[in-house]
Amino acid sequence: MIITIDGPAGSGKSTAARNLATRLGIAFLDTGATYRAVTLKALETGIDLADEDALCEVARNCDVSFEPAPQGLRVLLEGRDVSTEIRTSRVSEMSRYAAASPKVREVLVNLQRRLGAELGSFVTEGRDQGTVVFPQANLKVYLDADPAVRARRRHAELAAAGYKDSYESVLSAIADRDARDRGRAVGPLSKPKDAVVIDTSNMEIQQVEEMLVQLAEALR
Ligand code: DC
Repeated sequence: MIITIDGPAGSGKSTAARNLATRLGIAFLDTGATYRAVTLKALETGIDLADEDALCEVARNCDVSFEPAPQGLRVLLEGRDVSTEIRTSRVSEMSRYAAASPKVREVLVNLQRRLGAELGSFVTEGRDQGTVVFPQANLKVYLDADPAVRARRRHAELAAAGYKDSYESVLSAIADRDARDRGRAVGPLSKPKDAVVIDTSNMEIQQVEEMLVQLAEALR
């Protein structure tokens, strides 16, 4: 069984996808982490991220893998646990270069399909999972929410992790990312035409999760 959950930053898709996978007893694939890991490696290597060929070379030689962990997934870069490092605002911001590059996307789409084939049954989340990467998915979900609500959620997450970003800066970063995610030529954020669309603005995460479990159970 393949379930794709796409949507903008802060729509609640990471938590929903992770919890849904746990409830169904199947794997979870966080594709944003592949873009983040390549970005972290590029920053550490010191290349110019705007140099698409150099960034693509990093992506091709990047060994990204996942390991189940109590909190969901451990993200490994060349065997090193980078789960926390890839979530900093700097990596979030700089990941736009990898996301915008058709060549890097091709490498990462292939990686995501390989990981999916190894997993067999899984819940995957990202921007282009239902449209480009796994168009054959059994269930496609698109989660959305008002930008202000998404910014409040992201702000609370960052604060809980000890980051001091202001709400205004988080809101403005979300607006920028939305524009870039929706506007890119390759793998843009868009609703798959056969997706179930859920607006989570006025929903608790538990309600979203229950709805997803019901949709998934109906497939069995
Ligand atoms: O979902 P996230 O915030 O972890 O995503 C990190 C970056 O990767 C962000 O710039 C969007 C991009 N991304 C993408 O282009 N395609 C995906 N399938 C997943 C993430």
